Amino acid sequence: MNKKLVNAVGVTMLAGAFLLVSHASATEEYDVKAFGPKNPIVWDKPVKVVFEHRVHTDNAGLECSSCHGDIFAMQRGVAIQTSQLTMASLAEGQFCGVCHDGDTAFASDTNCSACHIVPDDPIVWIKPAKAVVFYHKIHTDEYGLDCDSCHNDAFAMKKGLAENSDNFTMKALYNGHYCGKCHDGETAFASNTLCNTCHIGVKGYNRMMGGVPHADKKSGH
Ligand code: HEC
Ligand code: HEC
Ligand code: HEC
Ligand code: HEC
Ligand code: HEC
Ligand code: HEC
Repeated sequence: MNKKLVNAVGVTMLAGAFLLVSHASATEEYDVKAFGPKNPIVWDKPVKVVFEHRVHTDNAGLECSSCHGDIFAMQRGVAIQTSQLTMASLAEGQFCGVCHDGDTAFASDTNCSACHIVPDDPIVWIKPAKAVVFYHKIHTDEYGLDCDSCHNDAFAMKKGLAENSDNFTMKALYNGHYCGKCHDGETAFASNTLCNTCHIGVKGYNRMMGGVPHADKKSGH
């Protein structure tokens, strides 16, 4: 056999063996009966929360029956439909709060980002000044702030509330409200400096929204 062919066969066999191995470990990796459903349970009302079975069964060693019975139905969507699944009920020791009480597991009024997902999309305000932009990930991932450093003291965990307040102005920021809670020259750069890091202006807004808005194009007639 010529050497090139031997090599080619060898490589093919290796690749075949690798595929077999990786296939086997991929099927081995997740055992639904032992760990519960693989896909995370996601709630989106009113804010995004993720629940992972495996963290609780495989990692924390809980039995299915420690939740399925009294606390949760074995069916997605039941808890949220009761309208009782809120931070307040967790704090009263219901749902996740049966265990997330600071004793059995970390308390539900700490470690917000363990359960809550950081929003991807930037928040953009166009009132009163067009436009100001806020990026979650810069604050949470890059600067390590947990959700409760802004929610619900400086901002509600809901888009639009600040913008609809007459008080959402530079004066309020200078007085330590909203972004000014931190952007005071000590915790973060002061609000009376670097205007353009927060203000992207009309041009920046149009660029962000993907070019010239419809209304502007038609403004000729
Ligand atoms: C720490 C709590 C907890 C444990 C332990 C747990 N589950 Fe769950 N399970 C949940 C929650 C929460 C839901 C979603 C309920 C809801 O949306 O109302 C759920 C939902 C389910 C669902 C429905 C999923 C769907 O897509 O409809 C199945 C099936 C399930 N669990 C199986 C299991 C099995 C099997 C085990 C044990 C290996 C287990 N669970 C252990 C909390 C738990
Ligand atoms: C153990 C998990 C868990 C932790 C930790 C947690 N939350 Fe929640 N949170 C939930 C669940 C579950 C809901 C209700 C379902 C939904 O809104 O999607 C919720 C809902 C909310 C809501 C919607 C309104 C309300 O009151 O229910 C806000 C706001 C909120 N959480 C803020 C926070 C903040 C701030 C922290 C940290 C101080 C935090 N959460 C920590 C699980 C958690
Ligand atoms: C039966 C008890 C129990 C219930 C109910 C429960 N948990 Fe947990 N959870 C635990 C334990 C135990 C741990 C591991 C110890 C710890 O992290 O404090 C844990 C850990 C976690 C973690 C940390 C994951 C990580 O990566 O370390 C998250 C997030 C979480 N739980 C979310 C939830 C949410 C959301 C709910 C409600 C839908 C919930 N849990 C309900 C017992 C529970
Ligand atoms: C830390 C972020 C931030 C910085 C820095 C900042 N602003 Fe603002 N500014 C805001 C926010 C948030 C609003 C309110 C939302 C909106 O108007 O779109 C606002 C609103 C305004 C407004 C309209 C409301 C009012 O107070 O009259 C003006 C004008 C303004 N900024 C000018 C400036 C100037 C000039 C600078 C620099 C000296 C500056 N801003 C720096 C975040 C910032
Ligand atoms: C540095 C401040 C800051 C931090 C930290 C922060 N947020 Fe926010 N968040 C905001 C601001 C500002 C808004 C917009 C409020 C408004 O428009 O009134 C907002 C809005 C939201 C909204 C509503 C968005 C929408 O599109 O409706 C959600 C959900 C949210 N935050 C979740 C989180 C979660 C989860 C964390 C932690 C992982 C977090 N935030 C950390 C400042 C922050
Ligand atoms: C809980 C504290 C806190 C709040 C509230 C806060 N920020 Fe920040 N922000 C920081 C910290 C810390 C940094 C990083 C240090 C610095 O740049 O001075 C930062 C950095 C930034 C940056 C620079 C990002 C980069 O590219 O590095 C911008 C822009 C910004 N914030 C905008 C805002 C706006 C707009 C608001 C209000 C909607 C806001 N921040 C509210 C703490 C905060």
